[in-house]
Amino acid sequence: MTVCEYKPGLEGIPAKQSSISFVDGHQGILEYRGIQIEELAKHGSFLETAYLLIWGTLPSQEELTDFEREIRYHRRLKYRIRDMMKCFPESGHPMDALQACAAALGLFYSRRALDDPAYIRAAVVRLLAKLPTMVAAFQLMRKGNDPVQPRDDLDYAANFLYMLNEREPDPLAARVFDVCLTLHAEHTINASTFSAMVTASTLTDPYAVVASAVGTLAGPLHGGANEEVITMLEEIGSVDNVVPYLDGCIAQKTKIMGFGHRVYKVKDPRATILQSLAEQLFEKFGADEYYDVALELERVVSDRLGHKGIYPNVDFYSGLVYRKLGIPTDLFTPIFAIARVAGWLAHWKEQLSENRIFRPTQIYTGTHGEPYIPIGERQNADDQDQLTGLITE
Ligand code: CMC
Repeated sequence: MTVCEYKPGLEGIPAKQSSISFVDGHQGILEYRGIQIEELAKHGSFLETAYLLIWGTLPSQEELTDFEREIRYHRRLKYRIRDMMKCFPESGHPMDALQACAAALGLFYSRRALDDPAYIRAAVVRLLAKLPTMVAAFQLMRKGNDPVQPRDDLDYAANFLYMLNEREPDPLAARVFDVCLTLHAEHTINASTFSAMVTASTLTDPYAVVASAVGTLAGPLHGGANEEVITMLEEIGSVDNVVPYLDGCIAQKTKIMGFGHRVYKVKDPRATILQSLAEQLFEKFGADEYYDVALELERVVSDRLGHKGIYPNVDFYSGLVYRKLGIPTDLFTPIFAIARVAGWLAHWKEQLSENRIFRPTQIYTGTHGEPYIPIGERQNADDQDQLTGLITE
């Protein structure tokens, strides 16, 4: 076997063959099943896109109607899941709540028949249908309110905003939210999708697959960056403070949130669409105080760091869109998960069709033949005090 060069973060190493999505990071192209993201954002809906990703072709009208109907039917949560959520601390992060609830679905739907298309379909429908209800329910319950039941007369995006805000959304807000879901639905082998694939390759249940992916998406270098962008814009505070803030980041080698990407070396095409969605919302509902700061930051970062390929990624403008839709900042990443579950499920299904368990190798850097020292003869490690401090927290 040839010994491969070690690439930290597996940069540039193909982890699988896939026909689900494609990114050209130099030209700023993203396609789902060969269709450009701009086309899907303009003409499609999120559920149509989810169907395309998971089953490989755009649904006929009849197929889409059936799929939407099944999803409406499965939106409700079992009361035991709601009871479980009541025990979660209000201060807990909604991503942790979502991960726990996604995993809990495996307790209720424990039959595992990975070679049965009806089982696959039921799992897809349940996960797409129930994740939004979980996020909205946690939001209401942590404020001490009962969750709002889903409404069968509302489509996927409108129903989520209704469950969250307890009122029917404006049609533009619902349409913009639906496009946001489409934009976040899939993105080749990113960290959370890789996590989903590794979990799927053990032939565990799809709820464990999605739960592992939700946990991975939560980190600030991945989906969690959309929250950090808003914190950063608040910290910058004004257009005049953009240059001093950036100087500080560059001097301290701090990453600027919402910028940079392993694959894109130009502005992420999703960021361009999200920026235009934000502008549509500002036109109808009023401007966001931080939009000018964001524009100036994009200008200055592109100027200073563009030579390294550092441009806005999907997380840079999504937060400004969600803020205008009245969504609290710590729900931004759970919303990313509601959308990305379509991609995770597409990769789950693709993984099952040609499965081989993931079992990479390593380059061992440790020692060999060390003696076993009896416990009474061992010295404290130099950093023992530091470790103890961490553990007691
Ligand atoms: N701000 C300033 N410099 C940056 C940034 C940034 N946001 N991102 C990368 N760089 C620089 C980095 O300092 C390094 O410079 P040098 O070669 O001089 O040391 C170079 O660009 C390569 O950076 P890297 O960290 O090796 O790149 P990576 O491919 O490992 O990381 C990334 C990609 C997305 C984790 C990184 O760009 C980052 O941390 N960005 C900020 C967090 C963020 O916005 N994440 C969302 C990613 S997109 C959506 C998603 O995945 O959820």
